[in-house]
Amino acid sequence: LFGLPEQAPHERVLLATDPATGLKAILAVHSTARGPAFGGCRLWHYESEAAALNDALRLSQGMSLKNALADLPFGGGKAVILKPEGQFDRPALFAAFGRAVQSLNGAYITAEDVGTTTADMRGMQAVTPYVSGIPREGAFGGDPSPKTAWGVFVSIRAGARLVLGRSSLEGVRVALQGLGAVGWHLAEFLHQAGAKLVVADVDTAKVERAVAQFGAVAAHVGEILAADVDVLAPCALGASLNEQTVPAIHAKLIAGAANNQLATPADGDALQRRGICYLPDYLVNAGGIISVAREYRNEGEEQAVMAEVSKIAERVEELLQRVQAADSTPARVADDWARSKLVRPA
Ligand code: NAI
Repeated sequence: LFGLPEQAPHERVLLATDPATGLKAILAVHSTARGPAFGGCRLWHYESEAAALNDALRLSQGMSLKNALADLPFGGGKAVILKPEGQFDRPALFAAFGRAVQSLNGAYITAEDVGTTTADMRGMQAVTPYVSGIPREGAFGGDPSPKTAWGVFVSIRAGARLVLGRSSLEGVRVALQGLGAVGWHLAEFLHQAGAKLVVADVDTAKVERAVAQFGAVAAHVGEILAADVDVLAPCALGASLNEQTVPAIHAKLIAGAANNQLATPADGDALQRRGICYLPDYLVNAGGIISVAREYRNEGEEQAVMAEVSKIAERVEELLQRVQAADSTPARVADDWARSKLVRPA
C-alpha cells in the first residue's frame, strides 16, 4: 500500500474534513506502544490525496522509530493538512484541525512541522490540550528547530570524529541543502565550529544571507547533493537520497534534519556500497521532538533539554558500533534497534 514497507501497520488513521474552513487533514497514529503518539503537523500543497496519505503514513512511522530511539515515553504519529487553494482563514483552519486532534482523545499530540508555526499551535490551545511547541512567558517552550539543529550538529561532530577521523569540525567542508528553520541554525553552529559551508536553497535571499554571514559558498539547488565536500546535511524535504542522486554524492558522511531522506531502503544500501556513511534522519533529528516532549510534560528547562539532545551523539557512536558488529548498514541497524524499542518503557 502506497509504497510502505509491509511491517508498518498503523493503529489508526483519521481523515478529518470541515467544509466551513476548507480543512482536509490526515491524522496518522502509527504506534501508541510507548505512549501517546507524538509528532508534528505539516501544512503542504500535495499533488493528490494519495500523496498526502502516503506522506502521513511514512512520517508517522518515522516518528515511532524516532521517539523510541530517543527513549521518549511516546509513540509515533503525524498529521498532514492539505493546503487549501487560494485564500483561507488560517486561525479557523487550525481550530478545525485542533478539534480533529481533540477527537482522538489524546491518542495523538501535535506540534509544528514544515509549513506550521508557533502561532498555529498557540491558536489550537483553545480547542485541545494535545498540542505542544508553544512559547510561554518565563517558561520553556516554543519553536523546536534550534534543538533539532543542535542534535544534527552534535551528530555531524561525532560522525566527523568516528567516520572521517577529524578531531574537530575546523576546516571540515559541509554542504547544506535547505536553509530553513533548522538549516539556518545548523549553519550557525557549523560556522561557529569552523566548518566551511556550501549552501543551497530555492529561496535565494537565504543563500545570500548565508554567504554574507558565514562566508558560505553558494551552490545551485540541482548540484548541492553532489558538492565536493566531506559532509552532506539534507535539511529540505524528503527522498533526496535516491537512485538519481546517490551515485553523484562526494561526501563521506551524511547527517541532516530532513525526514525520510532515503527514497527507498535500497538507497541506503547503495550509499554503503559507495563507502558513504548515512546517519539515519530519525536518529539525528530527534532534538525537536525531545524539546516539545519535555515542554508537553512540563519538564522543560533549557540546559536539561540541551543535555538530553546532546545525547544523540552517544547514540550515533553506539549505532556505528552496532553496524560494525552486524556487518550491515546504519539505516537497517537503526530500524531494527528502534523497532526493538516499540514497547512501553519500564
Ligand atoms: P523549513 O520549511 O523552515 O525549511 C526548509 C527549507 O528548505 C526552506 O528554506 C526551503 O526554501 C528549502 N528548500 C525546499 N526545497 C528545496 C530544494 N529542493 N533545495 C534546496 N532547498 C530547498 O523547514 P524546517 O523546519 O527547517 O525543516 C527542514 C526539514 O527537517 C524538514 O524535512 C522537516 O520535516 C525536518 N525536521 C524539522 C524539525 C524541526 O524542528 N523544524 C524536526 C525534525 C525534522
